[in-house]
Amino acid sequence: MANSNLELLSKFTIGGQELKNRIVLAPMTRARCNDTEAPFDVENTLPNDLMALHYEQRASSGLLITEATAISEEGSGWRNAPHITTKQHADAWKTVVDRVHDKDGIIYLQLWHMGRQAHSSHHPSTNRVVSASAIAAEGIQVKTVERENAEPEVPHALTVEEIKATVQDYVNAALLAKEAGFDGIELHAANGYLIDQFLQSVSNVRTDEYGGSIENRMRFLVEIVEAIIESGAFPANRIGFRIAPNGVYGGMGSEDNFETFTYVAKKMNEYGLAFLHIMDGLGFGAHNKGKYVKCADIRKVFDGPIISNISLTKEIAEGMIRSGACDACAFGRLYISNPDLPERFANGWKVEPEAPYETWWYPTGEKGYTDWPVCTEDSEHKEE
Ligand SMILES: Cc1cc2nc3c(=O)[nH]c(=O)nc-3n(C[C@H](O)[C@H](O)[C@H](O)COP(=O)(O)O)c2cc1C
Repeated sequence: MANSNLELLSKFTIGGQELKNRIVLAPMTRARCNDTEAPFDVENTLPNDLMALHYEQRASSGLLITEATAISEEGSGWRNAPHITTKQHADAWKTVVDRVHDKDGIIYLQLWHMGRQAHSSHHPSTNRVVSASAIAAEGIQVKTVERENAEPEVPHALTVEEIKATVQDYVNAALLAKEAGFDGIELHAANGYLIDQFLQSVSNVRTDEYGGSIENRMRFLVEIVEAIIESGAFPANRIGFRIAPNGVYGGMGSEDNFETFTYVAKKMNEYGLAFLHIMDGLGFGAHNKGKYVKCADIRKVFDGPIISNISLTKEIAEGMIRSGACDACAFGRLYISNPDLPERFANGWKVEPEAPYETWWYPTGEKGYTDWPVCTEDSEHKEE
C-alpha cells in the first residue's frame, strides 16, 4: 500500500535548501577506504569510488550525513576511515559529493576528532592521545593501528594553546569540505569523541575556562562554530551538530547530562545553525545516570531544525514528526541494508532487517556495503 501521505516523505528546508523528504542517512563509519599494508599510506584515508557508489545509492534520502571523517592525525584512530586534512582529501571527497549531487542529493560531511577514544599508535607525529582532561575512558577497548584491541590510554589534557590549534584543525577541515562541494558540515559532538569529552562532566574536570560550568565545558564547541563561520567556510545555517546525551558509547554518561545538554541546545540556538541532531533513543546503548534527554526537551529550547535518531522505524519516525518533537529522522542500521529506504517507505515495500554486525566494518570492500538489493516494481519482496 502506498504511503505518499506520510509526513516523513514531505519536503523540508535546511540551510535554505529544500530536502526532498525528512529521511536522513545517519553518519556511519564503514572503514571502506582502500586497505594498503602500510598503515600510514594516505590511500588508507582517501574516499574512493566504492564509497561514492555507497552514497550515490542512498541519494534519495532528504539529507545524507557522511561517516565520521578525521580532521587531523591526532583526531584519527580508525583504520580505513576517511580523513579531511589536505587538498588531496578534498579532491577525493569531491567525487563522492558530485555523484550525490548528480542524483539531487544533499550531503553534509561529519567532522570528527576521536580524542581519548583513539590509540596513540595512530599518531606517529605525537605518539599520544588527547582529551579535555587526563582521564582514560572506562569500560571500553580501543583499536591500535594494527587493529588489535587495547586498553584506553590516559590522554594528555590539551593545553589552551593546543585547544586553539585544534579549533584551527576544524576550520581547515571545514574549508576543505567547502572546496569538496559539501552542502554543509555536521560537528560530531556525540558518542564520547573529543567535543563530547569537553561537554560532559565525567570526562572534563578542568579548572580553567574550558572546564567547570556548562558554559565553560561548551566553550570548545562554541569556538569551533564561531571560527568556522568566521573563516567563511560555511555560514551558521550550514553547520549542524550531533549530540548523544543518553549514550554510553565511549565510556560516557554523566549525572548532569540533562542540565548540560538542554543548556547547550539553548545556547547553540542563538547561532541559527542548520540543525541539532540528537541521538535521543536508547537502543544504541544508554547510560543509567540521571534523566534522559528526549527530542521534546530539546524542542523547548531549540528553535531550529531537530533531527532525531536511534531505533526509528517508519511508524515511530512518522509519529515523532507528527507530534512536533522533531523535523527529520535519521536512520542508521536500516539504511545499511535498505539503500532505497525512502522508496520502500513510500510504496509500503518490505523493509529488510538491520544489517548484521559482521557487515559493519570488516571485511572491507563491497560485501555488506554496496551489494544490498533495491526494490523494484516486480521484486518478490516488494509488498509488506
Ligand atoms: C556501523 C556503524 C557506524 C557508525 N558510525 C558513526 C559515525 O561515524 N558517526 C556517528 O555520529 N555515529 C555513528 N554511528 C551511529 C549511527 O549514526 C546511529 O546513531 C546508530 O546506528 C543508531 O541509529 P539506528 O538505530 O537507526 O541504527 C554508527 C553506527 C553504526 C551501526
